[in-house]
Amino acid sequence: MNKKLGQFMTPSGIAGLVARELGYCDTVIDFAVGEGALLNAVQHMQGNGTGVIGFDVDQKMINRAQMVLRNAQLIYGNGLTSHIKGEPRGKIGIVGNPPFVSAAPVESSWVTKAFPGLTGKLGTHRAEVQFLARALVTARPVGGRVVFVMPIGFADGDIYSRIRALLTSQYRLLKCIEVPAGIFADTEARTVVLVIDTAGEGGIETEVCEVQAYSAQPLRVVSKVIKPGERLDARYHKAMQSSTSNGPLLRDLGVTIDRGIYSRKEAEDMHITAIHTSDLNRATNHKLVGSPGKNETLGHAVTAKKGDILLPRTGSRVRWEPVIVQSGEMPITDHVFRIRAPKKVREIVCQSFYHPLFRAWLEGASKGVCATVLTKRELLQMPAFAFSYSAEELLSTTS
Ligand SMILES: C[S@@+](CC[C@H](N)C(=O)[O-])C[C@H]1O[C@@H](n2cnc3c(N)ncnc32)[C@H](O)[C@@H]1O
Repeated sequence: MNKKLGQFMTPSGIAGLVARELGYCDTVIDFAVGEGALLNAVQHMQGNGTGVIGFDVDQKMINRAQMVLRNAQLIYGNGLTSHIKGEPRGKIGIVGNPPFVSAAPVESSWVTKAFPGLTGKLGTHRAEVQFLARALVTARPVGGRVVFVMPIGFADGDIYSRIRALLTSQYRLLKCIEVPAGIFADTEARTVVLVIDTAGEGGIETEVCEVQAYSAQPLRVVSKVIKPGERLDARYHKAMQSSTSNGPLLRDLGVTIDRGIYSRKEAEDMHITAIHTSDLNRATNHKLVGSPGKNETLGHAVTAKKGDILLPRTGSRVRWEPVIVQSGEMPITDHVFRIRAPKKVREIVCQSFYHPLFRAWLEGASKGVCATVLTKRELLQMPAFAFSYSAEELLSTTS
């Protein structure tokens, strides 16, 4: 298998799931057909009467697909630039498990066609996004359905948030089904299966589901109207549900969050003693005291002062516990968040990181395979778990 061409074939359980979600179609297209696993599952479910069209840049893949598919039009060529021969017949469906690789910028025009109004280039250089865009552009004129396997990053990554926002507002995203790690034999990656109806406007409820490893059946986690750019992965929505509190979010309490700008190495080179996650791990009683006069040149370093709460942003062996700055002023590295809360809510914010629901929330909100990574955007949306009605009364009497 050629990994540069993203040749990771779809396991049969997931191919079956894609075919079931597609429903009946007269013609089904796969712009990166590989060995034909998806189209084979479609024919298996719908019978050989369904016409299938497949493209692949690798002749070996075309030959293999030829052996398992019947009534197939297989085209050796680039699925992003080759034309479909003739007019596809009847009701059209498009399936895909495209290559998850970087692509030539010239091919990103599908993305602008599929998502009118998209600003910026973030995420558009990825082949899988361009294949999804081509599928949407092809299916939309006939109101066809698109069922696509995408990497988890598309569902949880910040760089795709604008594309997600347009996907949910301009198309009917019926389902986002998370496929946990370990189901794709060749890779440990988590993926999602998007089920999109191109007929009609967006703004509908999306079912966020998770595939059960033993049965390849999707179980529903939640059905809701996804907020613009909101994450689509089941892990996130499960954690959000388990940590739902009626209290306010950190951003509602006037909290601001910043991260350091220098890495530990950069700070060392500039002779700045910056607080790193290892210093947070070592802090006695979760408190830090700045040493006056130690950092004469702070450069543009982000510094923490008395009352600030420090929390790791990322790391594999970090202690996910808050540390309070007791005195002095200390720069922080880019692995540390400085959480600045108005005095009257500081205790509530700090206690929220000790609350049992924080762990459940962190599990869903964080990203990363080797190390947990938390973003400022997610953290601002964390519920203040320690907020209680007595705290609410206290705030209203003191404000
Ligand atoms: C993840 S595999 C496809 C899996 C396949 N859909 C299945 O059902 O098993 C991706 C396939 O895309 C092909 N590919 C890579 N770049 C391509 C391109 N620009 N156009 C068409 N196919 C391409 C690779 O050769 C590979 O066979």
